[in-house]
Amino acid sequence: MSSSHSFFKDKRPWSRLKDEVLKAYLVPYLAKVARTRKPIIIADCFAGKGRFDDGEPGSPLIIAEAISHQLSDATSPEIKGVFIEKKYFKELAANVPNSPWLTPLEGGYEDRIEFFIQKYEPRNRNLLLYVDPYGIKSVLFSYFERIQQKGFNSVELLLNLNAFGFLREGCRLLKNPDSETETPDYYEADVNTPERLDEIAGGDYWRRIVDDYYAKRIRMQEAEERFIAQYCERLKKVFHYVVNIPIKAKLNNIPKYRIVYGTNHADGLLLMVDNMNKRWADFRADARNQQSPLFECDFPDPSKQKDCWNIDDKICSYIDCEIGLRELLERLVQDLGISFSTSEYKDHLKKMENDRIVVTRVPPTTATGKQSKSWDHTSKELTIKISRKEQWQPPLL
Ligand SMILES: C[S@@+](CC[C@H](N)C(=O)[O-])C[C@H]1O[C@@H](n2cnc3c(N)ncnc32)[C@H](O)[C@@H]1O
Repeated sequence: MSSSHSFFKDKRPWSRLKDEVLKAYLVPYLAKVARTRKPIIIADCFAGKGRFDDGEPGSPLIIAEAISHQLSDATSPEIKGVFIEKKYFKELAANVPNSPWLTPLEGGYEDRIEFFIQKYEPRNRNLLLYVDPYGIKSVLFSYFERIQQKGFNSVELLLNLNAFGFLREGCRLLKNPDSETETPDYYEADVNTPERLDEIAGGDYWRRIVDDYYAKRIRMQEAEERFIAQYCERLKKVFHYVVNIPIKAKLNNIPKYRIVYGTNHADGLLLMVDNMNKRWADFRADARNQQSPLFECDFPDPSKQKDCWNIDDKICSYIDCEIGLRELLERLVQDLGISFSTSEYKDHLKKMENDRIVVTRVPPTTATGKQSKSWDHTSKELTIKISRKEQWQPPLL
């Protein structure tokens, strides 16, 4: 395990990936949410120093730049960045640009968020929570439930969750020292009780996973996958849509951590899926160049691998009668997470058009009178409906 003291020395490749996900999401998020004309707050809850010791920007500077970019549009509503940091507040305050839109706040996440939940008046604002702790001890599940209940116009969550670190803590607290050799990323080993872990996980389901691990019914890799799947299921009671990306050092390693995203908006979901899928594809391409091509799994969620290999059949299984393209994409990403981008699904649909599926577009022609071939699921002027071709037979091998 790495010491958290060296975190800001230089950026590790997996920290860079996390920044890329944040950066790539912020611009379309702000542009989209600005159209609500309601104020936006981005709360960076574990902000760090603002800048790494080697000069690279940390999350506060990435957020500050995205806010400044959006505010250069004169029609933009008010956007505020709030940065909470306990240990490195001095460095943070020096690094965050002086601006009425940017507020560094000294103190602990727990106190600040408690105050925020109890006293803050949401007044139709949009909130994006970026939660990037070293470990897991401060990240109580109930904070997300309580924030969601406050009545913001929208709430979105981007959480870096050290699921592997959580399970190591679970093993330690249930008095079973972990025996496998790999270690998680930075984490603080000072959760005091299993009950506190229940509060972090939003339930006690993790105890059965740890039991199965110690009974040698599963390995740590599978334990981590089960934990994150169940954590995300719990989070779906808070946010309508939840997806995650595993952040790894090598393709067949246990993830260092997971970036978990929650939203109630399908547009946000599809944007994030494309974003995370791109990071995963880039990581996989690099890993293939550096390692033996014989690795176990090249989809981010091994439990979905079979569906991913048979993606055309999977797509068809969602087309009972007629279904809109947008709804089909939503249902596919809710099931398969970030395994495919929306444009990859569309590539499959294009191949199946007139063969396995029928595509109906309303209006059927473009403004210039040509037959529409559009696959734009975001268009307000066009409806794209898909149905199955009944007489289709799988080709004989
Ligand atoms: C992983 S780092 C954050 C890195 C930052 N998001 C970035 O990209 O540059 C976690 C930060 O949380 C701070 N921290 C740890 N416990 C905290 C707490 N309870 N409240 C607020 N900040 C805390 C640490 O000092 C550290 O700077």
